[in-house]
Amino acid sequence: MVTASHVAAATTTTLVHRADQAPGWWRDAVIYQIYPRSFADSDGDGVGDLPGITGRLDHLARLGVDAAWLSPFYPSPQHDGGYDVADYRSVHPQLGTLSDMDALIARADQLGLRVIVDLVPNHTSDAHPWFAEALAAPPGSPQRDRYIFRDGTGPDGAEPPNNWGSVFGGPGWTRITEADGSPGQWYLHLFDSHQPDLNWEHEDVRGEFIDVLRFWLDRGVAGFRVDVAHGLIKDQSFPEWEGHRTMISAEESAEPAGKQAPMWDQPRVHEIYRTWREVLAEYGPERVLIAEAWVEDDRALARYVRPDEMHQAFNFQFLTTPWRAGSLRQSIQTSLLELDAVGAPCTWVLSNHDVVRAASRLGLSVTGKGPNGIGAGDPQPDGELGLRRARAGLLLMLALPGSAYLYQGEEFGLPEHTDLPGEVRQDPTFARTDGRVVGRDGCRIPLPWRSDAPGYGFSPTGATWLPQPDSFAALAADMQKGDPSSTYELVRAALRIRRDWRLGSGSLAWVDGLPANEGDLLVFTNREVVVLVNLGERAVPLPTDLEVLLASGGGDDVGPDEAVWAVIPRPADDDG
Ligand code: NOJ
Repeated sequence: MVTASHVAAATTTTLVHRADQAPGWWRDAVIYQIYPRSFADSDGDGVGDLPGITGRLDHLARLGVDAAWLSPFYPSPQHDGGYDVADYRSVHPQLGTLSDMDALIARADQLGLRVIVDLVPNHTSDAHPWFAEALAAPPGSPQRDRYIFRDGTGPDGAEPPNNWGSVFGGPGWTRITEADGSPGQWYLHLFDSHQPDLNWEHEDVRGEFIDVLRFWLDRGVAGFRVDVAHGLIKDQSFPEWEGHRTMISAEESAEPAGKQAPMWDQPRVHEIYRTWREVLAEYGPERVLIAEAWVEDDRALARYVRPDEMHQAFNFQFLTTPWRAGSLRQSIQTSLLELDAVGAPCTWVLSNHDVVRAASRLGLSVTGKGPNGIGAGDPQPDGELGLRRARAGLLLMLALPGSAYLYQGEEFGLPEHTDLPGEVRQDPTFARTDGRVVGRDGCRIPLPWRSDAPGYGFSPTGATWLPQPDSFAALAADMQKGDPSSTYELVRAALRIRRDWRLGSGSLAWVDGLPANEGDLLVFTNREVVVLVNLGERAVPLPTDLEVLLASGGGDDVGPDEAVWAVIPRPADDDG
């Protein structure tokens, strides 16, 4: 019989991370990602908007998160879901106005929520006025030099300047026609051809983004999630490159050993973030920068969060780790050790608008990074298994010390839409790969708020810019609120307990030596809370005497793909 004393025995624990007293709201914050087009639609056009978000901010407050991060809401031709920005200081007319944004920030403030906005500095939209100026001005001009234009190679410059590809498929260069009608130079776009890369060697570019930071800081935002933070500086010799081209370099990297991709994670990128940190500091210690940096490993990631750079970086190593006890333990431990070495908090992320939702990804036969979207012809996830694992994954993630990110709908256990017809797909990847890679639309479906309403209550007319799957009916917010067995109430309880027990600023010690199912059980303590996650196929009895705080399954034992939070009850006379 295993008792709580097995868990308590100091000899079976290995301390990896100490509880942390450092100041800073973000260090243990839970940040909720809103994808504005799919959160809530107030005007019935089927596209989510800022007033829709403001009207539902109480959902976030009631859930118990600390902040909302909004994916881009700026004017944009929407060639990449708004990550193609035409004006960094305004709001896309379909999503609202600047006053709507002010109202959103004010309402968030009333509810005790901070607002983080998305900054997209690697590229603009080709509809940005600078790009029009670059096309109108001659080669070599300062206007053209704000982007990365080069002459082509081969006879008549008809071949691209080098072999770099686009992350979304196809070539990374597009040739322009010069103002006089002649075939012209080529511009670099690491993403879609409608997203020309900016030239961060140009002082206008540096100055402009400092100004944009100030624009939003003055409006009261708590900080910025920085898109493609690892991509701004390119190796100025623009060498040929045969390595990986995806955003996700982890795991399946085809990087030639010891060679750094000339477009990613260049050392000089860090000087930019040092300058930005100084700008934020002028606004006090509470404003934050968060790096979206798909880099090789945790050590490379830690460089983005050194004390004079950003405050946080998304932990994509964790997101891409296969659902196995040993792999998860290794991944969590490495993250904590590497980030501790620079004094930054870890972040924990399982889902976002770029990856297959965890409730589906973890139901595939191979877990880990997952495919880039799932189509009707692809192997389908086991929904029940995926949801069970996603719930356990949420309890794992929310028990880890550091900051955690929740992607909208993750609190409802929403699955990926896995059979969207090609005609409705909007991710540029779909078109650029001739449909071979279906892309990210399936994780961006408008949220279900009411089970019995058209469009599941997403918009007053029932219109939705992407179709919703039938499975959303049973998962709508109104079906889950108040139901203790629902994923929503699980997450809400987890956030309450996380706060009460101060898990976000807590510790992590592995507990080894429990007899049952050793290799497949992940057990750790964070402060006084014991966390057990069963990644095996057999149920594991709970050590007797442990008092269960929360369970992703029934809570009588730790079933396969379930997690339990528990405490060792104190003797009654301990209280006085
Ligand atoms: C990362 C964003 O998360 C993704 O949605 C976007 O397509 C690329 N960066 C390009 O901006």
